[in-house]
This record gives sequence, structure tokens and C-alpha cells, in this order.
Amino acid sequence: MKSTRAVLFALIHVVVYCHLSLGQSSSKSNFAFSFAGYNKQSKPFLCSPGGNITAMIATALGESNPLEIPTTNKRKPHVQCEKNDPVMGNVVKFTIYKDDNDGNNKNLTDRQRMEMKGEKAGKKGDTFLYAWWFKLDPNMKNSDKFYHIFQIKTGGKDKLAKLTKFALATLTLTNKDQLHLQLNNLNAEGKPSPKFSLEINQVKGKWIQAFVEAAYKKGSEGGYIRVTMKDENGKLLKDSTKIKHNMWWDNDSYPFRPKWGLYRMKSPAYQPSDWQLFQNVQIWKKN
Ligand SMILES: *[C@@H]1O[C@H](CO)[C@@H](O)[C@H](O)[C@H]1NC(C)=O
Ligand SMILES: *[C@@H]1O[C@H](CO)[C@@H](O)[C@H](O)[C@H]1NC(C)=O
Ligand SMILES: *[C@@H]1O[C@H](CO)[C@@H](O)[C@H](O)[C@H]1NC(C)=O
Repeated sequence: MKSTRAVLFALIHVVVYCHLSLGQSSSKSNFAFSFAGYNKQSKPFLCSPGGNITAMIATALGESNPLEIPTTNKRKPHVQCEKNDPVMGNVVKFTIYKDDNDGNNKNLTDRQRMEMKGEKAGKKGDTFLYAWWFKLDPNMKNSDKFYHIFQIKTGGKDKLAKLTKFALATLTLTNKDQLHLQLNNLNAEGKPSPKFSLEINQVKGKWIQAFVEAAYKKGSEGGYIRVTMKDENGKLLKDSTKIKHNMWWDNDSYPFRPKWGLYRMKSPAYQPSDWQLFQNVQIWKKN
């Protein structure tokens, strides 16, 4: 009886393993998403070693100047195409160093930033879906200050107009609240949403699929955000379901844009450098 069970167990593992490796060899560096009822806005997000990674991200995310890179540690890599990831093939690797700056605004000396941004797009009433794969440095250390890995920024009718002080929403890592969704208001920083959090240890060092759906309206008009994460095999880790929120603030609060990367307050807690890998970063718009 016991041996039969052991054989069955082994067989199941072989089947699962074969399925996985087949998936990897046939769609290597792919694992693309597809969503019925949505139109893909982004272009393929796939780097090639030796290629122009900035240009690839620019084309993929529709933003001509997509990177916000520290102006410190110029001789060390911040953005690379890492080849032959065992699961994903060629992947984009962002690295941030403990003594980096925020090259985007050097006046903000308390923080550091290594981000990529998507095109500012959309209008009130639009619903967007952001989908991507990420893998966080398994040795990453956190603090209780913000460490954003995703943001939706808003504000500015025209190119000169400033973005609002706070992002509409962020995915943030802190020791206190772990990987959590934070929702803000026009001139007020919000609190971590009780509807979405995962233990950092549960997600770091692994490929994770992330989905953020955002209906850009006031909460009273049906505005919501929904965050879902799955593991490498598609197992659901957390689904916030739709969270009613003011996803539109006022007449000056449009349009909006997604940002991905490593944006954090400086802290002595960090290791000398942290990295994050990305694959298949995609932007979809509801029909
Ligand atoms: C890479 O592409 C970017 C954005 O299109 C461009 O500004 C840059 O000059 C290119 N770099 C090289 C080395 O060709
Ligand atoms: C940074 O500070 C200087 C001096 O106060 C100021 O002139 C400049 O506009 C500031 N830059 C930004 C991006 O805020
Ligand atoms: C905001 O936009 C609406 C619709 O275009 C308009 O009716 C309203 O007057 C605007 N409000 C302000 C304060 O500009």
C-alpha cells in the first residue's frame, strides 16, 4: 500500500515536472498574458543581451524616456538584460545600491530610485489592466519606510503640469505591513489597504505574476482597484477583489501612468545592493 502510494506520488511529480519543462522549452522567455475583453496597449517586453534595453522598454511601454536611473554608481550596472534565467530566459534586471540617489530629483536626498515608467495615457472612465512577472532579490532587507515596486501616478493636463504629490496607488514593501497595497488621496497619504498583503518571505526570490486592474473614476462613480498575485505555476496567492477607491481626483488629476522598479527611502537596514527581475510587463485597456 505504502509503496503504491509512493509510486503514484512520484508519477504525479514526473507529470507536473514534464508539463513545466515543456512549457519552458516551448514558450521560453514568454509566459505571455492574454485577457478577453481587453486590448493590449504595450509591445513585447523582451530584452536581448547586447541590445538597447532602454529602446526596448521605450517601445514596449510607449514612453520615449522610460527610465529613472540614479546618477550615482555610474560604473556599476543599474539596468541589464540577464540571459538564461532558468524559468524566463532573457529578463530585465534592475539593481539599486545602498548609496544611490534619486537621479530624477536630486533635491530629495532621503530616497533613491531605479524605475521604468509607462506612457501617460487614458481618460476618466477608462479601465486599465497592468500585468507583469517579477522576481525580488531573495536577500532583500526592508525597513519600515516606503519601498515601492509599483506605482500608479496621476496629474498634469499637459506635459508641464506636475504630477500629484502622492501616487494613486502603490505596491510597497515594509517590515510592518509586508508587501501591501497602499491607496492615497489627492493631498493625503493613505494607509495600507487591509484587502491586499502578502508576506515578503512568501514572494521574494520567486517569479510572481502580478495583475493590477484600475477603473479610473471616483469611487462613487464605480472607481476601483484590484490586485491579484499568483506564483510561477499560476497558483493564486492573493486576490484583493475590487476595492472601491477614488481613482480620479479632480479635473487636474489626469492622465495616469504605471511605474515599476525599486523606489525607496534610504535605510541603514539595506544590503549593499538589491535587484529585481522583470519579464512580460504589459499594459491592457478594457474595451
Ligand atoms: C538606446 O535607445 C535610447 C532610447 O531610444 C537612445 O536614447 C540611446 O541613444 C540608445 N543607445 C544606444 C547606445 O544606441
Ligand atoms: C532643487 O533645489 C534647487 C535649489 O533650491 C531649486 O532651484 C530646484 O528647482 C530644485 N529642483 C527640483 C527638481 O525641485
Ligand atoms: C471639471 O470638469 C467638468 C467636466 O468637464 C466641468 O463641468 C467642471 O466645470 C470642471 N471643474 C473645474 C473646477 O474646472
